[in-house]
Amino acid sequence: MKLLKFIACLLMITAGAFGLKAQHSNVKTVDPTEFKALLKADPKGVILDVRRPDEYKEGHMPGALNINWLDPDAFKTEARKLDKGKTIYLYCRSGRRSAEAAGWLASEGYKVVDLRGGWLAWDRCCAIKESGSCSPAGQQAAGSVQTAARAAVIDNIMTRRSIRKYSDKAVPRDVLDTILNCGINAPNGRNQQAYEVKVVCDPESAALLAAEVDGLYKAPVYLFIANRTDYDMSAIDVGLLSENVCLSAWAYGLGTVNLGSPVRSMKEKPELLKKLGFSEGYDLCLAIALGYPEETPAAKPRDAGKVQFIKIAELLPRCSTTR
Ligand SMILES: Cc1cc2nc3c(=O)[nH]c(=O)nc-3n(C[C@H](O)[C@H](O)[C@H](O)COP(=O)(O)O)c2cc1C
Repeated sequence: MKLLKFIACLLMITAGAFGLKAQHSNVKTVDPTEFKALLKADPKGVILDVRRPDEYKEGHMPGALNINWLDPDAFKTEARKLDKGKTIYLYCRSGRRSAEAAGWLASEGYKVVDLRGGWLAWDRCCAIKESGSCSPAGQQAAGSVQTAARAAVIDNIMTRRSIRKYSDKAVPRDVLDTILNCGINAPNGRNQQAYEVKVVCDPESAALLAAEVDGLYKAPVYLFIANRTDYDMSAIDVGLLSENVCLSAWAYGLGTVNLGSPVRSMKEKPELLKKLGFSEGYDLCLAIALGYPEETPAAKPRDAGKVQFIKIAELLPRCSTTR
């Protein structure tokens, strides 16, 4: 039951975040029933699945091409080969990635129909059924609960971006409390919780800090996190706390950015730093800005070569006991 609630919550949040995105005039965002009707009336349309290849393999619309939006360079190269005379029918898992891809395709001059709610909504509502309209029975036909939960978690991680432009909209206190609770539930060394978090969310204080501290983007909420300096792993605890904050915020359609520059700036202003009120033995380590995004940055590329599979046994001289 808890898992079902979690998934329902994640799906609602994802839909909410998606609603925040700006709409381009060349992009039409439609529900599954309309998507299906438009596709039927446009046999020359190109169906484009922008999910990762492993997601595509698990199930996709018949005839859909697969170009992974999360691999931006390859996406742009492959997508530019598509015929601009044909309408592109886009979908991803939940609608977030396809909304980003739709904006980019439209800016390149493509006419795009974007599936609201993505593959999850399609699978729940229409699948490849001939009746073509959404029904409660159809909704119950969603894939397994665990598969949806796993996909939602991975999607949340893979679509998160650092956000540096925020709207003035206040963050509801109950949402902020949940995010902070996620933060302190991150793993930490020996469960010592060797950190302190100071939250600034009143508009007057936030504006004052944005004006005084270099590199602090204007945001409705700031977190300042200090680590206890007598514990050598405490900065890692801060990083893990921060990641839980960033990911749970993203699941609510909220953006964040981790900030090192303002920490340096605040250390040059001891009077201001003192106002944060950290306990003796704690040192300001990281700041986080948080709020509703007013930008949709593209993914920054990652170097997969940083991860290497190694076999230590092959590199070591054989131990005498194993002969
Ligand atoms: C420890 C740390 C310090 C950072 N400091 C800053 C900063 O001072 N200013 C800034 O704009 N971004 C800062 N960032 C954000 C990174 O630039 C960003 O995470 C990175 O470019 C990858 O982009 P992404 O988060 O959108 O995937 C920081 C991130 C980390 C983890």
